[in-house]
Amino acid sequence: MRCLYYCRNLFLFFLWTIVDARWPSPFDVRIDHHKVETSHDLVINTARPQFSWKISVLDNLLQRNVQQIAYQIQLQSIKITQQDEKFEWDSERIISSQSIHVPYTGQYDLLPSKYYSFRVRVWIKNLEEPSEWTDWIQFRTPIFNLHEYVTKNADLLWIGSTKINMNELRKEFLIPNASPIKSAIAYISGLGYYEFYLNGNKIDPSRKLDPGWTTYEKRTLIVSFDLSANITAGMNAVGVKLGNGWYSQEQQHGESKYGPPRLIFILTVTFENGGTMQVFSDQTWTGREGSIKHDSVYNGEICDSRNDRSNWSRVGFNDSLSAWIMPEPMPSPANISRNGLIVLQDMPPIRAGSDALHFEVITDSQQQGYLNSEDIGDMKGAKLTDGGTLKPIVMWDSDSGVKTFDLGQNMVGWCRIRFHGPSGFGVYMRHGEVLTQPVISTKQSARNIYTENLREATASDTYVLRGDPVYEIYEPTFTVHGFRYLSIFAPPNALTMDDVECPFVHSETTLKGHFSTSNPIVNQIQHNIQWGQLSNMMSLPTDCPQRNERRGWMGDAALSVDEALYNFDLIKFYHNFLDLIIDVQRDDGEVPDFVPGNSYPPDPNWGTALPTITWQVYRHYNDVHTLEVYYNHVVAYVEYFHSVYKSTGLANFPVKYGDWVPPPPQPMTNTHLITSFAFLHDIYLLINMSQVLGKQEDTNTYTILYQKLAEEFHQVFFSTSSNFYADGMQAAQVLALALPGVVPTNVRAAVINQLVNDINQKGIHVTTGIVSTAQIYPILSDNGHHDLALELISSTTYPSYGYMFTNSYENATTIWELWNAPLTGPGMNSRNHIMYGSVGAWFYSHLAGIDVSSNMITIRPRMASETKKHLMLKLDCQLSTLYGLIHVSYTRDERDTMANSVLLHVTIPPNARARVIFEPLFIGGQCKTLIEGRKIIWSSDVNKQNVEGFEIEKDSTTGLMTVHIGSGQYEFQALWQ
Ligand SMILES: *[C@@H]1O[C@H](CO)[C@@H](O)[C@H](O)[C@H]1NC(C)=O
Ligand SMILES: *[C@@H]1O[C@H](CO)[C@@H](O)[C@H](O)[C@H]1NC(C)=O
Ligand SMILES: *[C@@H]1O[C@H](CO)[C@@H](O)[C@H](O)[C@H]1NC(C)=O
Repeated sequence: MRCLYYCRNLFLFFLWTIVDARWPSPFDVRIDHHKVETSHDLVINTARPQFSWKISVLDNLLQRNVQQIAYQIQLQSIKITQQDEKFEWDSERIISSQSIHVPYTGQYDLLPSKYYSFRVRVWIKNLEEPSEWTDWIQFRTPIFNLHEYVTKNADLLWIGSTKINMNELRKEFLIPNASPIKSAIAYISGLGYYEFYLNGNKIDPSRKLDPGWTTYEKRTLIVSFDLSANITAGMNAVGVKLGNGWYSQEQQHGESKYGPPRLIFILTVTFENGGTMQVFSDQTWTGREGSIKHDSVYNGEICDSRNDRSNWSRVGFNDSLSAWIMPEPMPSPANISRNGLIVLQDMPPIRAGSDALHFEVITDSQQQGYLNSEDIGDMKGAKLTDGGTLKPIVMWDSDSGVKTFDLGQNMVGWCRIRFHGPSGFGVYMRHGEVLTQPVISTKQSARNIYTENLREATASDTYVLRGDPVYEIYEPTFTVHGFRYLSIFAPPNALTMDDVECPFVHSETTLKGHFSTSNPIVNQIQHNIQWGQLSNMMSLPTDCPQRNERRGWMGDAALSVDEALYNFDLIKFYHNFLDLIIDVQRDDGEVPDFVPGNSYPPDPNWGTALPTITWQVYRHYNDVHTLEVYYNHVVAYVEYFHSVYKSTGLANFPVKYGDWVPPPPQPMTNTHLITSFAFLHDIYLLINMSQVLGKQEDTNTYTILYQKLAEEFHQVFFSTSSNFYADGMQAAQVLALALPGVVPTNVRAAVINQLVNDINQKGIHVTTGIVSTAQIYPILSDNGHHDLALELISSTTYPSYGYMFTNSYENATTIWELWNAPLTGPGMNSRNHIMYGSVGAWFYSHLAGIDVSSNMITIRPRMASETKKHLMLKLDCQLSTLYGLIHVSYTRDERDTMANSVLLHVTIPPNARARVIFEPLFIGGQCKTLIEGRKIIWSSDVNKQNVEGFEIEKDSTTGLMTVHIGSGQYEFQALWQ
């Protein structure tokens, strides 16, 4: 293994000497947070974008301390018509180390509906020559004020039907060929969902369930496509399918009353001579009910393929079998009189299969040569790198005539199934997360799918065959299921496993975190979190993907956001969600429990999503702009609970859910303490935000308020007779400890003891619900009990994460909603909830010890003591940041036979700096020697500093050793005595 590591570097060195590559150079560029490399059509919805880039060096080992000292950006318009004026902007050489969120500083705003391109180059310290330019990167701007454009245009109609289930609409139009076509830009929205076809082909085929779900009357999303390569002179045809999605009553639980699906469409064709032509949705279109007879997010789809018309979106289509009628004008879904807006969808869409997930980490352990499969252990479930489409791993006959398939992984999507049978033959399919008990039955046929926990959601699809003589493939269009098992009732032919494949469906994103260790329990939890997190990204963060719920529950979103941002690139996704939250924020500042939704007021641990997500997006991306945009909304939210507080105090602070679902038979701890925690937590975040933004007055005001509340919290909830908070339960101690300044120094040790003793008394188990579980692991690690935190996370007995996949009922591949899932009823019992996935943040923040929240990266892997080191002998973690890849991996006591040492590999991306902190490996431990490469850089004997150019600090109280480093690859060894 070792050789692999060094040999790779040697090989790269060799390569470097022969190819004479120009380096460093900027790459993986972002504009307005859009990752250029993964966008086919960059639509930049701002007149003043910002840019980020990474700097590549051929190999980090060869180049340390790579620092940008200057950059240059050039931006120009792309002339498409004879009338277009050329616009050019050159930043010139700007002396700056800034390589992320670099603003466009041109004098003129970018104009709407134009094409531009830009390129970047950089200067690096100690190198005279600038880097090469990036290629010219093309983007376009949309109509900036879409809302005004759409509402002021009398010829443009929302169309649909109140008379028939009009879910297929089409229109043919003539493009004159007087002047060459230079661009063709479409805007489309179809509620609840649409699919868009042009001249017989689907536009952007992997895009699904578009547009994103919103509070439609407040915000309706519209999507733009560049069809310049597809529209040709002469006749063209567009076809649009419409689905109900979240616009339908079936999902709304009697909330807003929406009507039938509706479509808006704008196509603008621009010719070389400057002329334009437009096609709008209006009553010149025709529509009919297509092959989809019913579609519902919860209840699946009924499709009669005998009604498919293969050429319906082609020119010259003629359908003698069905009636195509004129659509009616429909009201706009956005309630204009209540400030409803039509806005551009400015986040990655939901996609199916391999297009849904991109990678910025290397997940193949062979390549990294550090942890191998023996270290990692056997993993249950599918791999994210397997291409985004799952195949069954086993199938069997369950009830008579029912074929059941197991994908081996709980996931979200649907199945693509190949059938062969007579026309008119109907097949029924159901989806489930688990099998009926007992799974261990020897009778195979008893293994039916279990659907009771889906509650009223039928999660079923019905397909009527058209009778294709060869075969036909069915996959649903406007529904999505959360499942691991598929049952097909009365299939027309003998199906094999090859006839079934199931795309994984979620909002498009990039995997940016990879975390594996020598502890197989932790690895499986990480697996389950990543699959669970992706499963719950369906244009907004959902609680679960399978039953009649799937909502933007704010508590779940707040608990998972830190973990989610470590694992996936989601800045646009969360900006969109923050917009959805403020859409429904009332004038008094309150927000609902779930969004879209109207469950006001929120439980404070649910409403916290607004401040928490704002803060976490800022932390993970160092993006101050996010704070600026949402700051006033956070203030208003905090002020809402401030005014509530004035009449309740903390002792009676309002509660709806408290520390939701602790493990039975454990009760919930004092619920007012739990909600008071959220209130203080949010004020604390607000203080931090105001500091970043330099709002000194707010900092002062909220600091005074926080100090007062911190005292009150202690007074109200601390029992001086027993020296613990509330009833002594874990949750109460953890939440008090998690709030800075609440627990006075003189009782801190007693409170920590209470927590630790209780965990031990419970046989090393938690008694915590969702709110305090998110805090307990970091609190233990930060307060001298990292060993115990590791023991807790390694547990496989009830209640524990490990129990979810080692019990005798189910090998869970995602995270459960309930600690006691197999032991309790179906009513509320999802096997794919993300709220308990919160622990995933601790994997990165403490186990790997990576903190990227300031421009100085901190690497401080928490170490198990010598006696518990078997719990985490090895760890390997990659985290992709806007600067590039951070890589941290360690092995305990590996090199030499000498014990009490740790070998730590660290890679810091170019233009970043880090401090690496080494912890003593036992209480009172003192560092003996620090080695980097093979050289001693610090030794207790001579106590010399700055050897070999390293700046090193020793903290004599804690024993912590801090080494400051620039970019590059390092191999440290710390020996302790
Ligand atoms: C539109 O043109 C692009 C570029 O040639 C092509 O990749 C895409 O498949 C076309 N789409 C349709 C619907 O024809
Ligand atoms: C659909 O169009 C294609 C290409 O124009 C043609 O070959 C085919 O026969 C048409 N199919 C039907 C059912 O009309
Ligand atoms: C869980 O997986 C193990 C193999 O890792 C297997 O032996 C066991 O039967 C599985 N349990 C269930 C309930 O599927």
